[in-house]
Amino acid sequence: GEHHIGLIGLAVMGQNLVLNMADHGFTVSVYNRTTEKMEEFIERCQSGEPSADRVIGYAKLKDFVKSLAKPRKIIFLVKAGRPVDMVIAELLPLIDKGDILIDGGNSEWTDTIRRENELAEKGIHFVGSGVSGGELGARFGPSLMPGGSKEAWNAIKPIWRACAAKVDKKTGAELQGAEAGKPIKGGETCTAHIGPDGAGHYVKMVHNGIEYIDMQLICEAYSIMRHLLAMKPEEIGEVFEEWNKGELSSYLIEITADILKQKDPTNKRKAFVDIVLDRAGQKGTGKWTAMNALDIGVPANAIGEAVYARCLSALKDERVKASKVLKGPKIKPIQRGKAKYVEMIREALYCSKICAYAQGFQLMTEAQKEYNWKLNFGTIAKIWRGGCIIRARFLQKITDAYANDKKLQNLMMDPYFKKAIHSGQEDWRKIISLCAEHGIPSPAFGSALAYYDGYRSEVLPANLLQGMRDYFGAHTYERTDKKRGEMFHIDWPDPKRPQYKA
Ligand code: 6PG
Repeated sequence: GEHHIGLIGLAVMGQNLVLNMADHGFTVSVYNRTTEKMEEFIERCQSGEPSADRVIGYAKLKDFVKSLAKPRKIIFLVKAGRPVDMVIAELLPLIDKGDILIDGGNSEWTDTIRRENELAEKGIHFVGSGVSGGELGARFGPSLMPGGSKEAWNAIKPIWRACAAKVDKKTGAELQGAEAGKPIKGGETCTAHIGPDGAGHYVKMVHNGIEYIDMQLICEAYSIMRHLLAMKPEEIGEVFEEWNKGELSSYLIEITADILKQKDPTNKRKAFVDIVLDRAGQKGTGKWTAMNALDIGVPANAIGEAVYARCLSALKDERVKASKVLKGPKIKPIQRGKAKYVEMIREALYCSKICAYAQGFQLMTEAQKEYNWKLNFGTIAKIWRGGCIIRARFLQKITDAYANDKKLQNLMMDPYFKKAIHSGQEDWRKIISLCAEHGIPSPAFGSALAYYDGYRSEVLPANLLQGMRDYFGAHTYERTDKKRGEMFHIDWPDPKRPQYKA
């Protein structure tokens, strides 16, 4: 065979990725479990896709595999979990040593590590590649986060680099305007080899964890404007549009403006947000991020909070009942000086966002020790500047921060981010206290602030905590005036007796 790459799984993401690759001159073999879907897709290509002749459908997996140039490159976009193992099992008898299998779904990185190990033993390369950017990203330029062997990366590199989003070299702004048959040329590409085995999927997972908290923070900013300032969705949409011109400029802020200005398609008098049920779904990547943070002991509390906020939203029926029973303060909307409060909310959002990203990057910093990776944080921020859901002007600042200090411990310690928090914190605190006074839930804002205040505390009440642990369980404690790791214990029933080392 001589086709450049094969793709299995023709749901929307798969279809769009195929067209993206074909637009860039690659010949793509496609296969889908249900042949009908493949046929429909080929038909769709032929009735209007400029690169249709580079997309070739196969009804039999064997023929699909045969059509590919060696070493074969096969990417699949199927549901995370068992479906991935099933596709691999079906392919195994048909492929040869040196071939490259690529999982482009949101797989758990631990699964990816396992699969990479199993396949490496058979001489097959396995790449777990994060793909971010939703449907449009897949079509005209996603952010791609591949993990796996160097060899496999070198083989897929030309395709990955061609298809990924492109950003302006200097400003980091995404280059816009790709259309079917006319991809963007030039600019810096939003993909890079992340590291071995599960590193790519891990980084994609953290991207999603950050996506969760980014979204939750935006939702809280909206809610505060709505309830504390009694603003209408459309007005709030305009605020987000304004914000999108400044340091908060990002894809999520941009779509928020659009969504808030949208009317209900069935009743033009109503705002779209007011007819959407406030019960959030989730597919797992945010939860995995939070779980991993707990596992390896990184205080990514704001990311966790974003997951809990979705869980709480899902208790819709309970909340409806509780709203009639549990009392809080009456919200007295602020009428005067709204513009000033809007600006305070913007500052609160920006400061919280810095903390959230600090947590995501701190998590990756710890994880790389755990899993033996050498992640390049400047590069990760770089390839998130375009294509992905969290793409933002802000990411250029993170790239700069790591360029200034490769060993940066925490983003908040970078001079730019430090200054941003210093100048915004008064407003940030004020907004959170107003929320508390008026009974407006703002868990992510509050949790981000708790992280900031905790991180900058030389002394935390964990001294008392250690005392309690020593009291009830003889868990021992360290002394401030002795070496770290030297453990002491008091005989609590008789504390006057001299303390002894554990
Ligand atoms: C992306 C998105 C994408 C998807 C996630 C989030 O980077 O393109 O993160 O992967 O939207 O799966 O989904 P949930 O909100 O349903 O968990």
